[in-house]
Amino acid sequence: MQELLRVLDPGTEDWGLARLIDPSRLPAHVAIIMDGNGRWAKRRFLPRVAGHKAGVDSVRSVMETAARLRVEVLTLYAFSSENWKRPKSEIDTLFRLLRFFLRQELATMMEQNIQLNAIGRIEDLPEQARDELHRVIGLTSRNNGLKVNLALNYSGRSDIIDGVNRLIEEARAQGQLGSLEISEEMLQGAVSTSGLPDPDLLIRTSGEMRISNFLLWQIAYAEIYVTQTYWPDFRCADLLRAILDFQKRERRFGGLSALERVQAEDQVAEAVPVR
Ligand code: IPE
Ligand code: IPE
Ligand code: MG
Repeated sequence: MQELLRVLDPGTEDWGLARLIDPSRLPAHVAIIMDGNGRWAKRRFLPRVAGHKAGVDSVRSVMETAARLRVEVLTLYAFSSENWKRPKSEIDTLFRLLRFFLRQELATMMEQNIQLNAIGRIEDLPEQARDELHRVIGLTSRNNGLKVNLALNYSGRSDIIDGVNRLIEEARAQGQLGSLEISEEMLQGAVSTSGLPDPDLLIRTSGEMRISNFLLWQIAYAEIYVTQTYWPDFRCADLLRAILDFQKRERRFGGLSALERVQAEDQVAEAVPVR
């Protein structure tokens, strides 16, 4: 937090927003569905891939802002398992941009103590992108600041299925398949985000009100924030606005607020007959 204020120019919008953030109530895990690159480009009479290219600057800005804020985990939905349905030329550009981003950002990741990870079926990515990804994951593995998860060839359903299959495999290896009964804790430890807190805040850019097969298991109680802003326009100020909105929310996890609980306890149950 202090680190973010130090790098921002006093008087700017970013600085003004950063000053409003309560550092004691930061989301530990922010997950983002980075959407709207195509529409951003279309609006400018540019090809879709120009939107993806511009979106790389947003990734950089959001990653650096999250690191300086001292958010623990940032998960970015970069390529879904369903995105293979797109034209090959667009897919090729996306993975070229991924390689470019990884090469260009490595120094910053080291400087800002960022640890990169990938979630999704990485083994099926184009070879060069996969190699670059493994290289940067390896080089940043000892960093212990912000954890950035890139969701690539990711599907929330596959994540759950892979987790279940992992548990089955383990049980089989131990000769305990017959008595296997999967609990919530076991699956929590077997999905791709095992060991990390669930997302507190889920952001989707460009206005679509859907999850598109992202982190289905993990977002059970995430606060959802949808902004009309297209991903290539989403920068530091937009992330700060999303976090400020999150900080105004009351998270109840199915219970009541402290005040409501006191009031409810004072109420006489028989006051409203059931029949
Ligand atoms: C998000 O932008 C990037 C990826 C899904 C890879 P889109 O490419 O989906 O942009 P729109 O939704 O067509 O505007
Ligand atoms: C979700 O966006 C996937 C990513 C942001 C990587 P899409 O643009 O693929 O989602 P739909 O098709 O609008 O649901
Ligand atoms: Mg889209």
